[in-house]
This record gives sequence, C-alpha cells and structure tokens, in this order.
Amino acid sequence: MEPNAGAGLLNPYAQTKVGNDTIFGWWARYQEAVKQGADAVNGTIGALLEDDGSLAINQVVDEAIRVAPAVEIAAYAPLKGLPAFLDLSKTLAMGEHREALEELGMSMTATATPGGSGALYLAAANFANRGDKVLLRDRHWGPYKGFLSGCGLEYATYPLLPSAEEAKHAFVDIKNFKDELSALCSSQDKVMIWLNDPAHNPTGVSLTADGRMAFLESVMESASTNEHVGHTLLIDAAYHLYAEEPHGWAETIREAIEEGWPWPENLLLTFAMSLSKSHTVYGLRTGALVSIHPDAEVIEKIETVMGVTGRQTWSAAPRVAQYTISKMHSSKEGGEAWGKERDRLKNLLVTRRNRLKESCAKHGVPLNPTHDGFFAWLEHDDPESVAEKCAQENVFLVPLTGGVRIGLCAVPLAQIPRVAEALAQALK
Ligand SMILES: Cc1ncc(COP(=O)(O)O)c(C=O)c1O
Repeated sequence: MEPNAGAGLLNPYAQTKVGNDTIFGWWARYQEAVKQGADAVNGTIGALLEDDGSLAINQVVDEAIRVAPAVEIAAYAPLKGLPAFLDLSKTLAMGEHREALEELGMSMTATATPGGSGALYLAAANFANRGDKVLLRDRHWGPYKGFLSGCGLEYATYPLLPSAEEAKHAFVDIKNFKDELSALCSSQDKVMIWLNDPAHNPTGVSLTADGRMAFLESVMESASTNEHVGHTLLIDAAYHLYAEEPHGWAETIREAIEEGWPWPENLLLTFAMSLSKSHTVYGLRTGALVSIHPDAEVIEKIETVMGVTGRQTWSAAPRVAQYTISKMHSSKEGGEAWGKERDRLKNLLVTRRNRLKESCAKHGVPLNPTHDGFFAWLEHDDPESVAEKCAQENVFLVPLTGGVRIGLCAVPLAQIPRVAEALAQALK
C-alpha cells in the first residue's frame, strides 16, 4: 500500500495508525506452518486453549447464555449497565473484602463496558488531562498505547522488575516507580497509573502482598504530599480470577485503611474489569470500570461521567452476558459451578507454567519470574531473532518490546518442553 494512501481523507492522527498487529502476524505464521504439514507449537495467541487446541470454554457460562430469554439478548441494557451486573462487578473486583471496605466507609460505583478495553477507554478519556503522561511499567500490554494516544495522552514508564537484589522479592520496582511518579507530580495536576496486576500480560508476574502494600503506600504518600495533584490508580484486572490471590488488591486496601492510614481526598482507586477471560466470553464484550473512594459525592459524579462517556462512545454495553452471568452468580450453586469450571481452566495454566519453569531450568533458559495468568516471558534485547530461531524449530512465540512472550494459554502441556528446547537452542 502507498504510504500516503487516503492522506486527503484521513486526519493526521488517523494516518499514524498502522496495521500488522505483531501477535496476529506470528499467529498467521504458526497457521501457515501447520498448513505446510509441520508439527508446530502455537505460543502466539492470547486466548486459553484446551490441550487439543480448541478454545477453552467455561461450560457453565456457555449453557447459561444459550438459555437466555430472547429479550435479554435483543434488548439494550441500561446505559450504565444492568444493576445486578454492576453489583456483581464490584464483588468480582473486591471479592470477600468488598463488604469490609463498604463498612470502612468506601463508596463504590461500577459502569458496564464493552470488555476490559472499554473500561480502559473510560479511564483514559476521563482521569487525565490531554497531553499528560500516564505511568506504565516498561513491559505492558501493547494496546495501552492506542487507548492513551486516542485520548491525546502520552506515557512514562518505569522498569518491570527491580534490579537491586534486596528489592526483588516484591516483583515491582518501587524505587523507580516513586521517582517517575514524583517527576509527573511536578509537571501535571493529575496523574494516572495503570498497573496490570495480578497475572501481568505479557510476563505472568504478580506482585506479592508486600509489593502491593509498598506500591499503595507510595501512591498514598505521593497523594498526601502533592495535595493539589489528583491521583488515579487503575488496577487492570483482566486475568485476576486465574491468579492465586485474585483479590489481593482489595485485601491490601482494606489492610491499609484498617491500620488507620488516612485516605487522601485526591486519590481514586479504580479496577478495569474484564469478563472476557474469567468467564470465556471474549466476543460478548463485557466488562466494567469499578471505582472506590471515601466520598460518596465524588463517586456519584464519576458514575455520571462514565455513563455519559459510554453513551457518547458505544451507547450501552451488550446485555446478554451482563444478564446471564449476574443471574448465574446470584445463586450459590451457579457461582460454585462456574468456580469449578474456572478451577479446571486455571489448572491448565498452572500445570503448563510449572512444566515450562522445570523445562527452562533444565535447559538453562533464564525465564523471567512468572506466577499467574496466560503468559510467561523471556527478557531479551533482540526478541525478533530469538522468535525467528524458535520458528525454525516450528515453535511460534511473539517478539515484543524487550522480550519474547510465551502464550502458555495456547500451548498444550505435552508441547511445553519443546518451547524450552527451542529457546535454549535460540539462545546458544
Ligand atoms: C492486560 C489486558 N488488559 C485488558 C484486556 C482487555 O480485554 P477485553 O477488552 O477483551 O475484555 C486484555 C485483553 O487481552 C489484556 O490483556
């Protein structure tokens, strides 16, 4: 295609949008290898597959969707979401700590969105000033950049993991995070932090309880010191229900409040929720933005703003999964049946991750720390060449900024040792 094609029709920002998503490109290479008859390994895509390569589907959710009344499929949902779903979103975000947080005086609001992506968009559109920088880790989900730039935002980063030995156990680089946060506070009157935790995409790393507490403490301290700078901490919980501590953030917040830390007025905590993975409804586009703050008026205002933004962007989020999944979780049996299936799917990930760690240890592959969720990661300064060499062994992974993403979610257990072998060969 001509580089200037459509220049007279597309605005300058639109012209900066380029195609060829890396992940889909490498997935296509895997598919081509299979077509050519190769016994290829698919570590490319970001959806959970069964060991036979078919899409893993939570059967309890699937059955519930199939018997939804026609009107629940066809009708619009209320603009801000179905009340039962909004209630469920808060529980999915905070789990067993929700009630305690409410009793401790935290107000909460939720807005239904088309997937976690919609929730990220709502945050980008409303919690930062145009032209400002949002604070990310240097390894992050690629589409963040698009959500931010579409809202006229830039980003600053800090390293994924600390380099100092004594800080390594927390799995977050508090020192550099604090420095970046402080720099942003000196030049902006609002700062927003996006943290994909637990079960980070693309590495599978999760903060420990100590790491979360140190991180929250840093944000609270910054908000108290910079009282004229609005602070929004967004927890991207796209994979949290597959993690060992799904509600660790709510627990940390609860502990901080119970210990008597005063919650700064200028601090908002918000969860970007996605049901895509947790309930295997990727295509039904269902998620929510769940915000908590001690001032009920602040929460009321946020509720209005998010509802209006959704209305002006996608109208209402799709209804059927909001209806079906909130109904399913409203009964003890429904919630338990979903949980059993979720545990089965989670177990696929746990056994694949353990086998990858063992195989990498055996072959001397310096795999990054990885704990939960869909992915594992090999940090490398020439990820393209590593992925190319793996492809020569018919193992298809995804080279991204700073390393190679291993889609454990897609690789059958029996093929995991081949991933470690290919990486070992590539690193020789
Ligand atoms: C880190 C992260 N955040 C958010 C999302 C949003 O998911 P969705 O919009 O499909 O619900 C994804 C999906 O891949 C993700 O990996």
